[in-house]
Amino acid sequence: MVTFNSKGKLWFETLQDPTRASSHDSELQEDHTSLLWKETFKQFVDVKANGPSSIGSDFCFHEFSHVYGLPEHADSLQLRDTRHGEPYRLYNLDVFAYELYSRLGLYGSVPLLVAHKPDRTLGVFWLNASETFVNDDRSPQLKRKRIQPRTDVHWLSESGVIDCVVLLGPSPQQLFSQYAQLTGYQALPPLFALGYHQCRWNYNDEADVKAVDAGFDRHDIPYDVIWLDIEHTDGKRYFTWDSALFPEPASLQHHLEKKRRKLVVINDPHIKTDPDWSLYREARDGGHFVKDREGKIYQGSCWPGNSSYLDFSSPDTRSWYSRCFRLDKYQGSTPSLFVWNDMNEPSVFDGPEQTMPKDAVHYGGWEHRELHNLYGFYQHMATVEGLITRSGGLERPFVLSRSFFAGSQRLGAVWTGDNAASWEYLKISIPMLLSLSVAGIAFCGADVGGFVQDPEPELLVRWYQAAALQPFFRGHSANTTKRREPWLFGEEVTASIRTAIQQRYCLLPYWYTLFHQAHTSGQPPLRLVLLLPPAAQWKHCRPRGALLACPVTDPGVQEIQVLLPGSDEVWYDVHSAEMYKGGKTLSLPVTLDSVPVFQRGGSVVCRSTVSGFCTADLHPDCCPFSLQGVADGELYLDDGHSFSYRDRKAFCLRRFNMLSGRLLCRSAGEEGTFDTDTVIQSVIILGVKGKPSTVVVHVSGEELCLYSCIYSQLDCRN
Ligand code: GLC
Repeated sequence: MVTFNSKGKLWFETLQDPTRASSHDSELQEDHTSLLWKETFKQFVDVKANGPSSIGSDFCFHEFSHVYGLPEHADSLQLRDTRHGEPYRLYNLDVFAYELYSRLGLYGSVPLLVAHKPDRTLGVFWLNASETFVNDDRSPQLKRKRIQPRTDVHWLSESGVIDCVVLLGPSPQQLFSQYAQLTGYQALPPLFALGYHQCRWNYNDEADVKAVDAGFDRHDIPYDVIWLDIEHTDGKRYFTWDSALFPEPASLQHHLEKKRRKLVVINDPHIKTDPDWSLYREARDGGHFVKDREGKIYQGSCWPGNSSYLDFSSPDTRSWYSRCFRLDKYQGSTPSLFVWNDMNEPSVFDGPEQTMPKDAVHYGGWEHRELHNLYGFYQHMATVEGLITRSGGLERPFVLSRSFFAGSQRLGAVWTGDNAASWEYLKISIPMLLSLSVAGIAFCGADVGGFVQDPEPELLVRWYQAAALQPFFRGHSANTTKRREPWLFGEEVTASIRTAIQQRYCLLPYWYTLFHQAHTSGQPPLRLVLLLPPAAQWKHCRPRGALLACPVTDPGVQEIQVLLPGSDEVWYDVHSAEMYKGGKTLSLPVTLDSVPVFQRGGSVVCRSTVSGFCTADLHPDCCPFSLQGVADGELYLDDGHSFSYRDRKAFCLRRFNMLSGRLLCRSAGEEGTFDTDTVIQSVIILGVKGKPSTVVVHVSGEELCLYSCIYSQLDCRN
């Protein structure tokens, strides 16, 4: 299935002793390899302390012609043949309004490549955090010559050791779980984090925050979290507040907390060089900053101007930073404040490619080149630790990070950075988020509406509709854009956005169950069904998951084509309950309010019938069973915020089955002990064959017995 070094590209350079190299300097001057000790890019000079140290190898995937993964790129889900173009680059960079359909590096990297064919899914994980290039060379099948297709993948990293793992699947589900065993499972987020988040650079002051918060209530739009960007601080000194704009941050948080809502504030990795600021002095005196190649504290420019960068690769620095989140240390913070780590590629405005020079020096003497792609991961880790310890280890953290690496799923959420308000960016968000999901980063989202520029109202509505069906759901906009709270564009737009957000809230019991699955089995909530594009295979593909969404991502659309996968499947339109056979393309008329979503026959999706004001109002109370003879599904419940589900098994996991007219609800697998007053009040059964009849659902102990049918037979269209 897979051959290592099949094209003989196995390669490594050994670390060299610089003193020996300099004694040979004059000879080496003649030798072009000596130039590799020092590289010049624009005005930047990179001195390689140990000389050139690249490593590489290639893998052949026999009989595979579809490969996925390697986020983050603003490109198609299926990786392209790079023979005649740029390789995929994995190098974490701050790229404002990034180019689309490009293989250049963005904010985060996951060196996992997944190859798929109908009966086998394979993965190669190349554990390396230095700048990495991946070439992907596809050879087609030549039937007449009996040559099978193949994909040759060549990995080349600037430094480090060869450390790679082949994951054998064979099913995608097994591959996801093998990868999770290796790099970690998705953290189970607190329930509020799956609600809607409202962000802007910036909400101006406390009155502004309260007015926006009240606006959601006035317009009957549920939401859970309001965010503060860099302007909330005193001169971009994180852990502080602008005392004129946010004089009483703790009472602001209490105001929100009374409505069971949260505040998220930004906290970037650069620290303003300001010897009059105690936090700067603590970091400096504690040796917590990255050094330059001469051993002095490295300085670069970011939002505050001249700054130094915390060395999160050091365990001491991580614990120091974590302690800064203690409630008694972080003045004005309360337990309902959560954190957003931005600019952590790291972004250095005056650095090479707007990041840190590769010859900067970290803890243990490691050059930055060795661990560049891990910098943001380590900040994310330290922040998460900080929030957990501030609660005495009891509460689940929520931290959003822009930069990430393999394993960031253990820490929290990521988003796709500075996108723009255009239809193309809305469209690309889908393959970008699917690609992250394939690579284990399941809690991901894109700025709703587009970060830069102003979206036209139709785009804004379509973006809300798409993002309501994506894991991390946050509206965000840049300081140069017009305000865009959902109620600023007239009643029709407000109503459509309200519907999209309310539908998200109604589905939260299902989202939470999906996150429980990601947390325990590694299956991402966002699952791709289109693994194999050729129509014949597409028809036969067996989708995993219950809901299939096809959000509208073009302007002025009146009809949408939806490919319903699997000729053995049936699908139910969740809005009309119409049934359709799979393995076909469906044409559906759409209005501004339409978001085509289908429930797979055979699935059970627990949901809430009312959306409430925030996630704290939610109770799953309804179960649509969609039949294909039988149906099954799960529901996961716990307190939504603490680690009791883990430490005291305080959770409830129920499995619903329907077989021969009998509906069973029983405990699924491991027993938890969570007391809940949740009652499933209604059961909807889609696709019952036979005459309409009365409904009696009898509840006795753990067994629900269905004596007759809820629904009359639904037309099976097409
Ligand atoms: C970066 C972030 C963006 C944030 C801005 C100001 O551009 O990607 O989300 O609003 O910085 O902090």
